[in-house]
Amino acid sequence: MSVLDSLKEDIEQINRLLPREADGELTALLTDSQNYSLSAGGKRIRPLIVLLTARLFGGKRASAMPYALAVELIHTASLIHDDMPEIDNDDKRRGKPTNHKVFGQSTALLAGDGLFIDAFSLLSSNAELDDAANIRAVRILSRAAGSLGLVGGEFIDVLCEGRKIDIETLRTMHSKKTGALILAAARLGAVAAGVAEEDERYLDISEFARGIGLAFQIVDDALDRVASEDALGKPIGSDERCKKATYLSFYTPEQALRLSEEITEEAISYIEKYEGSETLISLARELAYRRS
Ligand code: IPE
Ligand code: IPE
Ligand code: MG
Ligand code: MG
Ligand code: MG
Repeated sequence: MSVLDSLKEDIEQINRLLPREADGELTALLTDSQNYSLSAGGKRIRPLIVLLTARLFGGKRASAMPYALAVELIHTASLIHDDMPEIDNDDKRRGKPTNHKVFGQSTALLAGDGLFIDAFSLLSSNAELDDAANIRAVRILSRAAGSLGLVGGEFIDVLCEGRKIDIETLRTMHSKKTGALILAAARLGAVAAGVAEEDERYLDISEFARGIGLAFQIVDDALDRVASEDALGKPIGSDERCKKATYLSFYTPEQALRLSEEITEEAISYIEKYEGSETLISLARELAYRRS
């Protein structure tokens, strides 16, 4: 089994980790709805980035795993909310009906709220690392997920519907709504491996992650027009329907895909020098060249 496959298999334990009350009947439906979205799969790229970064810098898989799963909880919460009628109004995600279509809007809203916050109890109680590392992790993930990060980026995304914006504003939006969590994933992997903030490795992995995060959302924008619903597991044409500002306001899909490949190669140049970086590099290329 390849390293990637073995890590992916471990990540799938995610749907066993939600808090359940001993007398959980009253909240059983909330947990069911969270498990529904968590176990629908997905590419798991953010937890993979945490685990591969930790591995690259000599950290243990067990130390990084709670951080990896916490990032995937945040990501899944963001997808549940992103699909709701008030934001993108989509009815398919990860090959299944969206959470609110199955469980209703109030449950979907609260399922997302719960996952956003449960992520932090998971991070802060990582028994494999000390409190200093866990506090660093909380600081990194809370900034990435909050009003200055993912949530702020989603806000800008909605604000800019139907508007013409310049490419700098678009890049800022993408770096917040998608890039921030991918950057946090790499940084959490570094924290799990005991890498200090001023260490050159921390700066290099951050530059790498910034690049692949931007490239990832550019590909997502392009695939919204040129992929198929079956391949993506979510509707295509959603951006056009919502009049979203995307890279396709500036580039053809082919140009956007080419640009993402260039950004990815530039990102890779920051980590090539590290022995053992091949797996992370091949994941980055897989993401840039993906069509699903
Ligand atoms: C979708 O993320 C939302 C974006 C930030 C583009 P992914 O493409 O990683 O979704 P899953 O986790 O594989 O479903
Ligand atoms: C979503 O961007 C980014 C998130 C933070 C969820 P999109 O709205 O383009 O993601 P998809 O295409 O629905 O997966
Ligand atoms: Mg959206
Ligand atoms: Mg969306
Ligand atoms: Mg999209």
